[in-house]
Amino acid sequence: MTELLPSKLGTKQHWDEVYSSELANFEDIGDEGEVWFGEDSVEKMVDWVLENLPPSGASPFILEIGAGNGNLLFALYQVGYAPARMHGVDYSLDAVHLAQAIAMTRGDGEATEDENKESSARSISFSMCDFLTESVAPLKGMAVVETGSPPLWDLVLDKGTFDAIALAEKDSTGKAPADAYPSRVARVVKPGGFFLITSCNFTEEELRIKFANEETGLVYHSRIQFPTFSFGGKRGNVYSSVAFQKPVRG
Ligand SMILES: C[S@@+](CC[C@H](N)C(=O)[O-])C[C@H]1O[C@@H](n2cnc3c(N)ncnc32)[C@H](O)[C@@H]1O
Repeated sequence: MTELLPSKLGTKQHWDEVYSSELANFEDIGDEGEVWFGEDSVEKMVDWVLENLPPSGASPFILEIGAGNGNLLFALYQVGYAPARMHGVDYSLDAVHLAQAIAMTRGDGEATEDENKESSARSISFSMCDFLTESVAPLKGMAVVETGSPPLWDLVLDKGTFDAIALAEKDSTGKAPADAYPSRVARVVKPGGFFLITSCNFTEEELRIKFANEETGLVYHSRIQFPTFSFGGKRGNVYSSVAFQKPVRG
């Protein structure tokens, strides 16, 4: 298993600095900021979602953990997912402000304030939340299973967030924050729903060990093919993108 050393990419301070500068750039020159892992990873994740959870009928409730500038949710919106059923959380407030500012520039430019709001990118919601310690609020129309239990999503997405969390320092008791992440993810996935993760720090095998186990209750579902590289006679993937499903219990 990859043993990662803590780095500044695992600190909130780092992401606050990144998004404060990206927000300032967006306000100055309209630059939307970094697309982590590039457009290709976004396209492939969107294709996976289209194939496995098509937007026709009741559009799925989708949560992105660590949504950054929201590029993945905007891409899903563009192919037909209902914006009011998509929610991005991030622990960096400026990331939330950046995604909200970008949302204002997307979608039906012609819509007046309330008219088309439900179908415009402006109804994708973004909020500040440290996913490791805080709960995600439900969206309008979501079923609450039991009082006190978290809202359940048809699809939970992670593009680069687990990678960042895995670079955080251990706490004073020697626990790595990343150890708590898989079960926190699993508890917000609806039975029958999916968790799709793209990572540059973990291999497919490592992701399967971390996310598909007894503790999470998730099972491996499928993977996305990414270009491979060869190094020293070994073949590997630049990124790993793996989908897990929460079984429906009989
Ligand atoms: C590599 S960036 C990816 C951003 C976005 N998913 C994308 O693809 O552009 C990692 C993101 O995770 C967020 N993040 C890290 N730890 C988090 C936590 N505990 N709770 C919520 N967001 C977190 C960071 O603020 C950052 O936006």
